[in-house]
Amino acid sequence: MRRIAQETINRVLEEVDIFDVISQYVDLKKRGRNYFGLSPFRSETKPSFSVAPEKNMWYDFGSGQGGNAIQFLIEYEKISFSEAIRSLAEKHSIEIIEVGNEQQSNLYDQLYEIHNLAYLFFSNNLKSSAGKKASKYLNDRFFDKAIIEKFNIGFASDSWDLLYKELNQKFDEEVIEKSGLFSSGKKGFLDRFRNRIMFPFYSPSGKVIGFSGRSLSDKEDVKYLNSPETLLFQKSKVFYGSYQTMPEIRKKNYVLLVEGQTDFLRLYEKGFKNVLATSGTAFSTKHANALAKYTNRVILTYDSDNAGVNAAIRTGYILLQNGFEVRVIDLGDGLDPDDYFKLKENSILTFQELIKTAFHPINYIINKKNIHSLGASDKSKFLNECIEEIKLVDDVIIRNDLIKRLSDELGVIENEVIGRFAELKSNRRYNKKNEKDKKNQIKHYDSKSDKAQFEILKLFIHNQKLSKDISLSLFDNKLCYNIVKTIIDNSNRYKNVAQLLEYLGNAPEERNLVALLAVDVPDKENELNILSDCIETLENQKIKNKISKLRNQIRIIEESGEIASEEMVLDLIALQKKTSK
Ligand code: CTP
Ligand code: MN
Repeated sequence: MRRIAQETINRVLEEVDIFDVISQYVDLKKRGRNYFGLSPFRSETKPSFSVAPEKNMWYDFGSGQGGNAIQFLIEYEKISFSEAIRSLAEKHSIEIIEVGNEQQSNLYDQLYEIHNLAYLFFSNNLKSSAGKKASKYLNDRFFDKAIIEKFNIGFASDSWDLLYKELNQKFDEEVIEKSGLFSSGKKGFLDRFRNRIMFPFYSPSGKVIGFSGRSLSDKEDVKYLNSPETLLFQKSKVFYGSYQTMPEIRKKNYVLLVEGQTDFLRLYEKGFKNVLATSGTAFSTKHANALAKYTNRVILTYDSDNAGVNAAIRTGYILLQNGFEVRVIDLGDGLDPDDYFKLKENSILTFQELIKTAFHPINYIINKKNIHSLGASDKSKFLNECIEEIKLVDDVIIRNDLIKRLSDELGVIENEVIGRFAELKSNRRYNKKNEKDKKNQIKHYDSKSDKAQFEILKLFIHNQKLSKDISLSLFDNKLCYNIVKTIIDNSNRYKNVAQLLEYLGNAPEERNLVALLAVDVPDKENELNILSDCIETLENQKIKNKISKLRNQIRIIEESGEIASEEMVLDLIALQKKTSK
């Protein structure tokens, strides 16, 4: 895979103006040397989102995240690193230079190629006489030729190594192993997928990246077998069918989300082409982020069995918390979308009606969980459970809408519900958002020594010339140590802090700390005094550490009945003298 050259990244970070980039999304007001605005990542009433034009950096004091223009676009637009660079480069007419990591590119290319050959192999299989049974199976389930072609459905024969024999001459063992298409047993590689209908998954650019295989035998206990996690295939963010249906989803600006391939294909075949499937009911925040690029409206069309109902509730909350407008279809009688159309009384028209009358998630939960039939105490418990979830919804409008519906449905006045928000603050049982924030937020280091190290780092970030006065050995705080080391190691490769971030690698904690220190303007006049104070603090601390170590050694010696050597005692006295200066 080709990657963007460091020189291009540096140029982008030199030429873009962070104010220009962010002011397109956030209303910024000048305060001192920085700009402030309402955080675009959380809902808030007091601006805590800060932009430092001189440093070309931003920092969100609420969430503890910060960075340069690239990270802003990644976070805000939910795009990849290279997409962010490309978009910034394009706006500033900066030529993008790419360099190849040949070996890596080779591996990726070969992984795509092996998937391409595998899908062709499965596809031809289905058409051959070996695929008769599979072909009949699909036919019996009313999946016609057009659908099979459109989604390139295939068949993996009931053999241990047909695919392996076909491909092993063409690829290195590394590719065979990393493709996820084979399992390695005692006697070498075996085909992972055997006697299965094969459904390929695609990348956004239309390359096959993995498979799901449905067993043809009823005895097989694994009905659906999927590709494992590979360099190309990550189950927590792919949707089945996305390559084929994304244009339609964009156009209609909503998506019908189903649990699996057969439900997907049934809806598609019936003309509901703005559909996507997850592999089962596991829906992640990564899925939500991937979806957000195409639409912000989702209609959940999960199976109406118990598992499906619970999954719809869970997924509904995740989507609401990520800013989506959500509705839920209740197919009834434990049906899934595929079953639904098997019933005579159902048709395209009745399904259209279901779409139109789909439930709001709150109504759906209350309905499905029979909340109206509960006693007051259980109702109250339910209300608290809902509030715990609603708290994690960032968008004020969505949150208020949820509160209103909840109070309407339960017949509780809105103020009572709002009152419980505050009440429940202290005993949150779990709060995923909080956990995430905690991870991003820089841990509070309260020791004098940590504070001194942060202070030195801040001065250093604002004035690179100080490097002659700063030695790496001063730092024992891991975060500071790593950052200072990056600064020293790359000192002539970057010109500003925004560029420095790109040398920090993938450590968000380090990046966020640098951003925080960068938006905080230091006291320039007293720079050298502060620096020498901090260095003194750290050196004192080192002596104190030595003293306590020495004392400890002496104590251990004395406890064992011996006497500490004169040398040790003199050392101790000398060290104590140094600190009392
Ligand atoms: N699934 C899976 N692994 C399993 C079972 C299911 O990955 N062991 C995923 C598959 O993507 C499947 C979806 O969950 O499509 C839904 O599973 P299920 O409802 O059991 O299957 P159906 O969609 O009803 O499949 P079919 O109609 O072929 O029986
Ligand atoms: Mn089914």
